[in-house]
Amino acid sequence: MIKRSIPCGLIRASHIGQTVSLNGWVHRRRDHGAVIFIDLRDRSGIVQVTIDASRSSEAVHNLAETVRSEFVLGLKGTVIARSSDTVNPKMDTGEIEIECHELEILNTSKTPVFSVADDEEVDESLKLKYRYLDLRKKSHLDKFILRHKIVQAARNYLDKEGFLDVETPILNKSTPEGARDYLVPSRVNPGHFFALPQSPQLFKQILMSAGFERYYQIAKCFRDEDLRADRQPEFTQIDIEMSFVDEDDVMAITEGVLRESFSTIGVELPNPIPRMTWAEAMSRFGSDKPDLRYDLELVDISDLCKNVEFKVFNDVANSGGMIKGLNIKNGFTLSRKNLDDLVEFSRKHGAKGMAWITIKEDSPVNIDQYEYSSPIVKFFKPEELRTLMERFGAVPGDVLVFIADKPSVAYDVTGRLRLEIAKVLGLKPKAPYMFTWVTDFPMFEKGQEGITALHHPFTMPHIQSVDDLDGDLLAINSRAYDIILNGVELGGGSIRIHRSDLQMKILNLLSIDAESANEKFGFLLQALEFGTPPHGGLALGLDRLVMMMTGSESIRDVIAFPKTQSATCPLTNAPGAVSLAQLKELGLRIKIAVVED
Ligand code: AMO
Ligand code: AMP
Repeated sequence: MIKRSIPCGLIRASHIGQTVSLNGWVHRRRDHGAVIFIDLRDRSGIVQVTIDASRSSEAVHNLAETVRSEFVLGLKGTVIARSSDTVNPKMDTGEIEIECHELEILNTSKTPVFSVADDEEVDESLKLKYRYLDLRKKSHLDKFILRHKIVQAARNYLDKEGFLDVETPILNKSTPEGARDYLVPSRVNPGHFFALPQSPQLFKQILMSAGFERYYQIAKCFRDEDLRADRQPEFTQIDIEMSFVDEDDVMAITEGVLRESFSTIGVELPNPIPRMTWAEAMSRFGSDKPDLRYDLELVDISDLCKNVEFKVFNDVANSGGMIKGLNIKNGFTLSRKNLDDLVEFSRKHGAKGMAWITIKEDSPVNIDQYEYSSPIVKFFKPEELRTLMERFGAVPGDVLVFIADKPSVAYDVTGRLRLEIAKVLGLKPKAPYMFTWVTDFPMFEKGQEGITALHHPFTMPHIQSVDDLDGDLLAINSRAYDIILNGVELGGGSIRIHRSDLQMKILNLLSIDAESANEKFGFLLQALEFGTPPHGGLALGLDRLVMMMTGSESIRDVIAFPKTQSATCPLTNAPGAVSLAQLKELGLRIKIAVVED
């Protein structure tokens, strides 16, 4: 076999005159009869190879005629300068070409089911079925090269900071991250199941108890949850845990990992990354993962609506609800259709409607003479309107939109409207990457089945003494923190509970009694009784990080072998049926429930 002496993409004018050996795939082939051109591609790039009947042997020329797209070749040739009219400044290797005098076909290829060389619309399941063809595209390869660099940068940084890379088991007991588990039946213990880890949470805490002090892992996590553009059933975390620390230490290390990662694409991060509390994030942006690329901030007018004639606002303001608004600067460019669409958008996300007021662009500048277009201004007295305009700092050309509802809906829908409006107006982001920490989350939330932990039940509450837990639970904050980038939760973590009495009390509050706590994570509770140090940590979603850094639309673009929206793998056809013999060995019998339409 001819073995490469140099990668295709690295050959330059400085190599002219040298003989080189190349390996690669046929990217394109053009047959002009006497002269055949082959664009040869390997991981490093593409170089043009010429087989000229007048200069190469007949055997080489004949062989070159049989070559097709995606054949695998070995060849030898001389690097020559291209004539000035054929120099291609768009190619790194555009000044030269290879005059081929020895050619070997290392493998043939069927006609590819879609072109590797050209970008054409291809159905995603077909792309995933032939993932190896799709991954040959440079646009994909570049993402995996960056993913590799990010992982290397994170590893180097954490190594330098004294973190130990420790692997934790995949065959586990259930971990409490709140999603459904993937289960694996145990053959030797019939009727018993392992759960795949939703995260290494409990093990990393045990490693702190074990005195490892600084742990990290590029960890695979498995969660059987409904998939979205930024969610996969199997994903990777840069998982971190540290002993004898507080929030500032964990945040500083996380910022270090992010700083090193972003330096691979030449982006400098703010130092330190700004922080805001959960309460501030909600009140200003209506979201616990605020997208700070756009200004549009929520304005509360609940207090102004207690006596207004407009029934919708009046009712909400007097029954514990909230009226939240946004001032869309220069929003007059929004058409009536745009506004109707925003009303529809709000309804789709659970609001009862969306009220709006346009201050006509050609209004007099005097606030008392503003002219409006709106279905609701008729319900407001002039002085009420004036106060409203002042609260929003509204000037002619602005559009105000309002959501009146119970607080959770008012925050959520107005928060979503911000981003939808930015999209509809094509607002320019303030910067390509806007980070923020969100801290001091509520410790508990009220779910359908009572009180649950907002992060996970091992998170340390912000309390002075255990007695504080006898008061209003929903008023207690936790020592949890999320790192947000452009409105996406990149990572989250917390300072943990390291005392068993407090841990038990929290579990009890969550209606997890001693027996089931011991059954589920007794090993952790026990470790807390044997000198577990104060500790805390965080996990960054690696796939999400790479997705954002490569500007990818979907998390699937940055995972080599992702699952589809319905959690299947078109390449391997997983999940698949298993043989009766296998089931028998596992002591399982399958009864498939027939779902009737
Ligand atoms: P959490 O559940 O917040 O915390 O997960 C941490 C980060 O992992 C990423 N992530 C996902 N990425 C892709 N697909 C998914 N299905 C998915 N789920 C989560 C997100 C998220 O911010 N053990 C705790 C961490 C800790 O407390 O230290 C944990 O797993 O980017
Ligand atoms: P109606 O009186 O129901 O026709 O509503 C008048 C305007 O108020 C319409 O533009 C509705 O979209 C809007 N609206 C209705 N309910 C709400 C609500 N809960 N919050 C904000 N606006 C609403």
